[in-house]
Amino acid sequence: MKAAVCAAYGGPDVVQVREIPAPLAKPGEIVIRVLATTVSSADARVRGARFPAGFALPARLFLGLTRPRTPILGTELAGVVEAVGTKVTRYRPGDKVFAFSGVGMGCHAEFKAMPEDGPIAPMPAGFTFEEAASISFGGTTALYFLRDVAGVQPGERVLVNGASGAVGSAAVQLARHFGAHVTGVCSAANAGLARSLGADEVIDYAVADFAASGARWDIILDSVGNASFARCRNALTEKGRLLLLVAGLGELLKSPLQSRASGLKVAGGPAPERAQDLATLKALCEAGAFKPVIDSHFPLDRIADAHARADSQRKVGSVVVTIGQGGCE
Ligand SMILES: NC(=O)c1ccc[n+]([C@@H]2O[C@H](COP(=O)([O-])OP(=O)(O)OC[C@H]3O[C@@H](n4cnc5c(N)ncnc54)[C@H](OP(=O)(O)O)[C@@H]3O)[C@@H](O)[C@H]2O)c1
Repeated sequence: MKAAVCAAYGGPDVVQVREIPAPLAKPGEIVIRVLATTVSSADARVRGARFPAGFALPARLFLGLTRPRTPILGTELAGVVEAVGTKVTRYRPGDKVFAFSGVGMGCHAEFKAMPEDGPIAPMPAGFTFEEAASISFGGTTALYFLRDVAGVQPGERVLVNGASGAVGSAAVQLARHFGAHVTGVCSAANAGLARSLGADEVIDYAVADFAASGARWDIILDSVGNASFARCRNALTEKGRLLLLVAGLGELLKSPLQSRASGLKVAGGPAPERAQDLATLKALCEAGAFKPVIDSHFPLDRIADAHARADSQRKVGSVVVTIGQGGCE
C-alpha cells in the first residue's frame, strides 16, 4: 500500500510517500481502506519535533528520540471497512466509518488496522469522507474539555481562544450546542466564520486583549497556548474554569496549586480517544449541531504541502488529505 512515511524529525519534506506492506486484520481487528485523513496540528508538531515548553525530552522519550517511532503519522480518518478479523462482530466489509487513532497515529496510509472496539463509529449520514475524517481531532478535544473537564452549563459564558482552528471551531459549535454564550478570539479575517459557527461575540486578538478587557468568563478554553493562569485570572468568574490545551510542563505542574489557592479550576493534559465520544459526535453531526470546518484538500502525493499548511498555524479548521478515489461519498 501507499503510505506517507516520516522517517526523521524535520520540515514538511521529510514526509515521503512510499510503498509498504498493508496490514492484515488480526482476530479482533478491522482493516479500513482510508479514503480521507487530515494533517492535524499534532501531526505537524510531531513531524517538526515542536513541543510545548518543558516537553521536549518527555515527548521524544515517548515518540522516539531521534525520529518518530511510529513513522506513519495521522490521527484521524474516514473510509470503508475492507476486511474484518475472525472475532469481529460489530463491522462488516463495506461499512463506512470514521476513526480516531489519536496518539497511535497511522492514518496517513491506504489501509489502517484498528481493534473493532477502538475509537471507531459509523459515518454520520449525509457526510462526505472528507467531512467525516475531520470530526475526531477537534471534536473529541472540544467535547472532552468543555463537557467532561469544565462541565459547561446552559447560560454560562465561554471564551474560545483560537476560535478558527480545528479545535477552536469545534469548541465554538459545541459550547453553543450546550447552551453557552460564546466569545470567540481569532483574527479579523476569521470573525465571520466564528460568528457563523455560533459565537455571540468575536474579539480580534490583534486589536484587543480579552484578558484585560474587564469582561469575565465562566470557562476560558485556550487552544493557542498564550492564556496562562496569570494572564486569565482576572478574566474568570468565581466559578471559573481555565482549560489549557497547549500548556507547557511548568504551567501544568502549577495548575493543581493554582486551583487550590484560587478556588478556580485550572486543567490541561491530553484528551482521551474514546468510541463513545465518536458516537456522540456522530449524533451531533446528524442533528446539525456540529460540522467540522475544512481548510483545504490535498491528495496523498502532496502530503508535504498539507504539512506546510498545518505548520502555518493559520489553518481554518482541518487540512484534509484524500487517498485513492477518496474524498467524496
Ligand atoms: N490537549 C489536547 O488534548 C489537545 C488536543 C488537540 C489539540 N491540542 C493543541 O491545541 C492547539 C490547537 O490545535 P488546532 O488543531 O486547533 O490548531 P490550528 O488548527 O492550527 O489552529 C490554530 C488557530 O489559532 C489561531 N491563532 C493564532 N494565534 C492566535 C492568537 N494570538 N490568538 C487567538 N487565536 C490565534 C489561528 O487563527 P487566526 O488565523 O484567526 O489567527 C488558528 O486558526 C495545538 O497546539 C494542539 O497541539 C491539544
